Amino acid sequence: VDPATPIDVPLSVTMGEGQTPVVRLDAAGRRLGLRSLRTKLEYRNPTGSFKDRGAAMLVSMLKEHGVTRVAEDSSGNAGAAMAAYSARAGIRATIFVPASAPAMKLSQIAFYGAEIVKVDGGRQAVTDACQKYCNEQGVVHASHNLSPYFIEGTKSFAREAAAQMDPPPRHVLFPVGNGSLLIGAWKGWADMMKSGNAKSMPRLHAVQTEACPPLASAYRGGAWQPTGGVTTVAGGIAVERPPRLQQCLQVINDSGGQAVSVSEESILRWQSLLAREEGLLAEPTSAAALSGLEALVRSGVIGRDEAVLIPLTGFGFKDRIPTG
Ligand SMILES: Cc1ncc(COP(=O)(O)O)c(C=O)c1O
Repeated sequence: VDPATPIDVPLSVTMGEGQTPVVRLDAAGRRLGLRSLRTKLEYRNPTGSFKDRGAAMLVSMLKEHGVTRVAEDSSGNAGAAMAAYSARAGIRATIFVPASAPAMKLSQIAFYGAEIVKVDGGRQAVTDACQKYCNEQGVVHASHNLSPYFIEGTKSFAREAAAQMDPPPRHVLFPVGNGSLLIGAWKGWADMMKSGNAKSMPRLHAVQTEACPPLASAYRGGAWQPTGGVTTVAGGIAVERPPRLQQCLQVINDSGGQAVSVSEESILRWQSLLAREEGLLAEPTSAAALSGLEALVRSGVIGRDEAVLIPLTGFGFKDRIPTG
């Protein structure tokens, strides 16, 4: 796959997504012994997650082609983004979600006027049900996991980060299910290098939960098979069979990154530390990136003086806020 093949779609359906701020994470940096740790607050996008970048591009393309009905499968955030941008474009959306999806994400999707179909079983069962529905009903499967337009939309993350950070980040860590932000960032930096707007590609790392680590296992040369259902606090990255797994591996290897898996306890600990020590309310899936950072600092992959960037991908109100 050549990362530097941009798709040109005029952004006709937009809500001012992107242009999210980059702020320092000084307390977390002190804990980890890092001098330059920053976060890009992706949860400040219109529906509360980075998925708006991709949804704006994908729905603009669908509108341009006169599509009036779409279906999508999602753990919640992409569904909310697709529901919102579809509403804005006058497109009827049906969103397939895991029955276990957080209540706030479901309410958000429904409030945009989308139809919700809850599916029992793991994330793959949700995708299968959506694909079956689309085939039977002749509805466009507007899958954020498969569409190149969605990835094209997430590239803006890289353009902004490069413009916002001086020095540019040496490492960027993403919570990864299917890798839409990881791959988009890689393509974005590749575009900039081709046009001379960036000198080098940061090392792009993927973080997964130990409860669902298909990419981290493949990176280590193993194969992970789900045994029964996946239970995790990080529902956004609980993708058992990511269709873009090979492409994620390519991004990681090409950029000199790594894929790691982290414990559920560590994810919740970092979610709490972000709130208590930085005042930042992120959903657990997003906090996984900090757990991954801790692991990569410990193993010596990330050095004290290197600039690190972590996107906080989803807003805390969308998911469980632990009590006690
Ligand atoms: C908050 C959050 N972060 C990260 C991800 C992972 O995105 P991807 O599956 O494209 O890697 C998701 C996906 O739903 C998410 O909701």
